[in-house]
Amino acid sequence: MKYKINNNIISINNEISSITIEFLENNILHIYKNKEVTLVPLHEKPSSIKLSVIENDELVTIRFNNYAIFVFQDLKYKILDLYKNTLLESYPYDATLKSFNKNFDLAALEGHKKTENVVKSKTQINYYLPKGSYLYGLGDKCCFLNKYGYEFISYNTDDPSPQNENFPSLYKSINFLLLNTSESNYVGIYYPSTYKTFFNLGKYKQDLLFILSQDGEYDNYIFLGTIKEIIASYSSLVGRPSLPRLKMLGNQQSRRSYASKQEVEEVVKGYEEAKMPLDYIHLDIDYMDKYKVFTVDDEKFPNFKDFVSELKNKNFDVVTIIDPAVKVEDNYYVYEDLKKNGFAKLDGKNYVNVVWPGDSVYPNYFDKNTSKYFTNLVSTFISQGISGIWTDMNEPASFKGPLPDNVEFKIGNTIHYHKEIHNIYADYMIRSFYKGFLPHNLRPFLITRAAFSTTSSMSTTWNGDNCSLWSHLKASIPQILSMNISSYPFNGVDIGGFGADTTKELLIRWIEANIFSMFLRNHSSLNTRSQEPYAFDDETANIYRKYLNLRYDFVPYLYDLMFEANRYGTIPLRPLFYNYPDDSLTKEINDELMIGDSLLYAPILDQGMKERSVYLPQGKWINYFTNETYVGNKSYVMKVPLQDSLLFVKDCSIIPQYKNLMHINKKEIDTLHLYVTPHNGKCTTYEDDGSSLDALKGKYNKYSIRHTGNKVIFKTIKNGYVSDYKFIIINYKTKQIKLPFSYNFTAELD
Ligand code: GLC
Repeated sequence: MKYKINNNIISINNEISSITIEFLENNILHIYKNKEVTLVPLHEKPSSIKLSVIENDELVTIRFNNYAIFVFQDLKYKILDLYKNTLLESYPYDATLKSFNKNFDLAALEGHKKTENVVKSKTQINYYLPKGSYLYGLGDKCCFLNKYGYEFISYNTDDPSPQNENFPSLYKSINFLLLNTSESNYVGIYYPSTYKTFFNLGKYKQDLLFILSQDGEYDNYIFLGTIKEIIASYSSLVGRPSLPRLKMLGNQQSRRSYASKQEVEEVVKGYEEAKMPLDYIHLDIDYMDKYKVFTVDDEKFPNFKDFVSELKNKNFDVVTIIDPAVKVEDNYYVYEDLKKNGFAKLDGKNYVNVVWPGDSVYPNYFDKNTSKYFTNLVSTFISQGISGIWTDMNEPASFKGPLPDNVEFKIGNTIHYHKEIHNIYADYMIRSFYKGFLPHNLRPFLITRAAFSTTSSMSTTWNGDNCSLWSHLKASIPQILSMNISSYPFNGVDIGGFGADTTKELLIRWIEANIFSMFLRNHSSLNTRSQEPYAFDDETANIYRKYLNLRYDFVPYLYDLMFEANRYGTIPLRPLFYNYPDDSLTKEINDELMIGDSLLYAPILDQGMKERSVYLPQGKWINYFTNETYVGNKSYVMKVPLQDSLLFVKDCSIIPQYKNLMHINKKEIDTLHLYVTPHNGKCTTYEDDGSSLDALKGKYNKYSIRHTGNKVIFKTIKNGYVSDYKFIIINYKTKQIKLPFSYNFTAELD
């Protein structure tokens, strides 16, 4: 066997073929036969580590950091750690594609939908799955944390039927897998292709993981290290999650649709009368004139700009939906401006399908001028006072059958076909829209339904059209956690469920269960029962309010977690195994979550349930509502009546909080509360203006807070922003200690 080395790149040949390994920073290996050329930029940083290579007839051995990689004659490879544990090993098997072509004739006779997956692939990547492997990640794919035994397909899909674990594709294509092959061996795999990709996770053969795509190359990235390191390295490669505005952590209310000024005013009134916090109201498609994007129906929303600004003055910000599809209509400005060169084409003409506005064309966001055109439209919308833009139907969706593979998207002089760009269409839409916020010195507030792995650095997201079903409530926890594992933390689902009618009990349990999801929005579909928090009875309103208040109390803690996700690639909402990788009992807990290091949450997710078992990992845990202390490494069965959920704070924590907020307006928040648990602990908290791009240029404060013995020591370790805080209140046991804010101080607790 022969190898060639060029700095951080090693290529190994046998008589027939070759494989290349690029060593990147943070123990990332880029292994490929032919490099996949995708349209999405990845942030590769070549490693400068020393590689030692030994070659003989049978294999090439490369040693680097604490790892070794063996490449055999057939170019299969094996990665080992310092202790000679195998972390990942090629599976010497070529799954023939015929095996996956099922005969659907009989099913078709019975009238069932034919969903044959005929895959013509150039390559497949096969790895061993040792017995007892767990597989996590893959973005929004439903419905459990551990995806072993299932097959999924990355092909952004807008299928409104109720989504369950038999649903291979959802709205997003996030090809990142976290693989746990034995007690504490973890490895990450990222498949960068934008083509339709199949992930067979031990379903076809129990010990085989294969990744196979419609087109594309043998190309993947492998991440080595601890779980935290693996996810952080993946996130540095695809781009760290964007830093939200502080207000974006507030409560958001939507429905299809609040379709007139009066209807919006009723929502505001509903919230005000019910004394519940709210920060954003969403306008779904009916605010537009005949669903024409970047128009407003003047009859239903007269003086739109003034209306939006009146709402903003009361701290209710407006988010408007914008879909990609542009109505085919003469004299409609967007259509006219772009009809020559701005849309996708087929057979030399603009390609037409049907979406909400009827006959519609699809913007070619891949073209620089078209992209710029939409950037300017977004910027104009922001100038009108719109705070955020909700992008939807960007899979791209179509009502008259799927877009054919050969629809053309021209980039410069090169034609790219739909089959290549389908999964990143939304990503490019977001790229164009993102730039529209920048001239306003505003952190972009975008929400997208479809996404690629790189989209998290530009936009928030929600998980599409769920239903008011208990199974969907239950699925929301592992789905949000899987999105976090896939470095997409600003995520949530429609609270109460989008399709079908919710019930009082379901709505209550839903707001309880998702109260810590970064994107917190109640949204429902046309003709469904009203599910605003005040739409049922006083009991519902009281419980809903209790949880919104709880959420607002934890806003600074959630913001800190997003700040760290943006800087370091840590994840805010965590499956228990992220914090306790050595605790084998945590590997498949789908109904509990951790928020950072300090909070453990166990809501009720089943109809009629009034008690549940909760597993607490090692340490001491304090019930946030009752102050009772529990010892961990143990499960408890606890009563959880309708108004309750189980929230535990890990002892040795300090949690920054705000109190009594009805809106999040940074300038008006003058007191930082510190919830201090009985025993010594520490935390880091951040402060900035909460909305501009300045924080990204270093204009923020970083405070380090330590509790030792009977003292709390507050230190400013980075001072880049003039603080808005006037007071600090320390909540310790039954005491409240109020102090004037100062950048450095020591407080006595007793
Ligand atoms: C899609 C979205 C949904 C929205 C509807 C109308 O179904 O997922 O949230 O309400 O379109 O715009």
